[in-house]
Amino acid sequence: MTSVTSLTAQVQQRLANALSATQPEADADPLLRRSDRADFQANGILALAKKAKSNPRELATQVVGNIVTGDVIKDVEVSGPGFLNITVADRAITENLAARHADGDRLGVPVKENAGTTVIDYAQPNVAKEMHVGHLRSAVIGDALRGMLDFTGEKTIGRHHIGDWGTQFGMLIQHLFENPGELAPAADVDGEQAMSNLNRVYKASRAVFDADEEFKERARKRVVALQSGDKETLELWQQFVDESKVYFYSVFEKLDMEIRDDEIVGESAYNEGMPETARLLEEMGVAVRSEGALVVFFDEIRGKDDQPVPLIVQKADGGFGYAASDLTAIRNRVQDLHATSLLYVVDVRQSLHFKMVFETARRAGWLTDEVTAHNMGYGTVLGADGKPFKTREGETVRLEDLLDEAVQRAAEVVREKAQDLTEDEIQERAAQVGIGAVKYADLSTSPNRDYKFDLDQMVSLNGDTSVYLQYAYARIQSILRKAGDVRPAAHPELELHAAERALGLHLDAFGDTVFEAAAEYAPHKLAAYLYQLASLYTSFYDKCPVLKAGTPEQVQNRLFLCDLTARTLHQGMALLGIRTPERL
Ligand code: ARG
Repeated sequence: MTSVTSLTAQVQQRLANALSATQPEADADPLLRRSDRADFQANGILALAKKAKSNPRELATQVVGNIVTGDVIKDVEVSGPGFLNITVADRAITENLAARHADGDRLGVPVKENAGTTVIDYAQPNVAKEMHVGHLRSAVIGDALRGMLDFTGEKTIGRHHIGDWGTQFGMLIQHLFENPGELAPAADVDGEQAMSNLNRVYKASRAVFDADEEFKERARKRVVALQSGDKETLELWQQFVDESKVYFYSVFEKLDMEIRDDEIVGESAYNEGMPETARLLEEMGVAVRSEGALVVFFDEIRGKDDQPVPLIVQKADGGFGYAASDLTAIRNRVQDLHATSLLYVVDVRQSLHFKMVFETARRAGWLTDEVTAHNMGYGTVLGADGKPFKTREGETVRLEDLLDEAVQRAAEVVREKAQDLTEDEIQERAAQVGIGAVKYADLSTSPNRDYKFDLDQMVSLNGDTSVYLQYAYARIQSILRKAGDVRPAAHPELELHAAERALGLHLDAFGDTVFEAAAEYAPHKLAAYLYQLASLYTSFYDKCPVLKAGTPEQVQNRLFLCDLTARTLHQGMALLGIRTPERL
């Protein structure tokens, strides 16, 4: 593993050196960015000149005199009021890319030096309930963030905070107690059967619950038995959890997502710690008794009618709720898992809850300045009409139906394009294309925004879709196959075409982009990078013949650019959880 310093970072360093050579006391940022006019433009001299009350163009000319050129930087020009236009040497580009090409999957991207531990709370469905489109976002965004963070060298620990506790279980368990055997032993059911069993039990118990006052009373007592840890009650509860897990796993498999059993740590896992959480909060005075309940007040947080909204840690009847389990989870994640960052990929509608939970934990000293806590609150999935996504009957859309439809739509696209594929191959690719399309549509918009679930658009070959990226990848593979014995090889002595330079400079920015996207929890930045990579590749391919290039060296060098593009696309998509089939 040899990490490569990006050209951007190298140019940045040279400029910073030149700036401090010109004005030793000033600590100015050259403000470097990619530019259309040259390879890079630096605007930082303007601010520096203003501070020093000197003429920016003159200062810029002085700085240029101090820039080391000839190897990485080919040319620097002063332009406009005092910008610098910087051109990088062709040789530097190719050598840099060659070093990336030689570095396997890491593509020269360094591993963070002082990596922390991020506990990431994502993919948290609820027991005995169908997964819906909201659970999709948490799973997809969480998985992508995790892939990106891992790649930077951050240690990540997943927590699937499933909804496996609460008063709703009283009715279900009581029904199962009165009708034993209603849930098949989890081992021989598949996901679909498991969910239909759970639905059946739910419907049947609901019907009795609504019609029969005495059952209602027995269900209420069952809640008490559950909370006090009654053995038989817990066994029945466990059946619901196990059956649900069979279902969850089948959906995650469809989503092409790996979920580890030891990371499914639901609300119930924090039961034992909750009384202590409450006691500590009360002792520290962070929480106070109010009308029998234990609550935390916040001056800054107000709800409707400007009334303060308290966080309820313990209800007046002694029961603990959602906040108590989240607070107890924080203690576990910081003290036992040694998290330095807590990340919650949860619907933005729960952001107030998390704001209060984090603030409470800070007051209690469970969250210190060394630990960051962030709710990556995602927006709502909308239907084509711009309203929250529903079925025609106005019901929430089952996640599985949605995924099945995406795969079906993708199969049509794949079938149309590829004449020489067998039916099995079509189905396999359809799954990769369809699930990729759903993930990419989600990840390519900023997570906090709503987005429209529009399958036609998602599986379109044109535009910012995963299919477009997958085709770019497959097309490169086909060129590499056609090249046969001619292997990709870098030739730094060659002059580059403008389209090659643009592609090359973008390839060089992969690592910087992943680091930025990971640090900002912004998978859409990586998606945008990949889309631009495919676009730059397309224009390179249009302008620069590869197999028919002028000289054998040029053929090899262009194949090398093709190969590095493919590997970068593959790695970038993999970080987002999306496959890149070799043929499409
Ligand atoms: N199960 C919850 C839901 O479906 C999400 C849990 C979020 N995580 C947490 N730590 N509260 O809405």
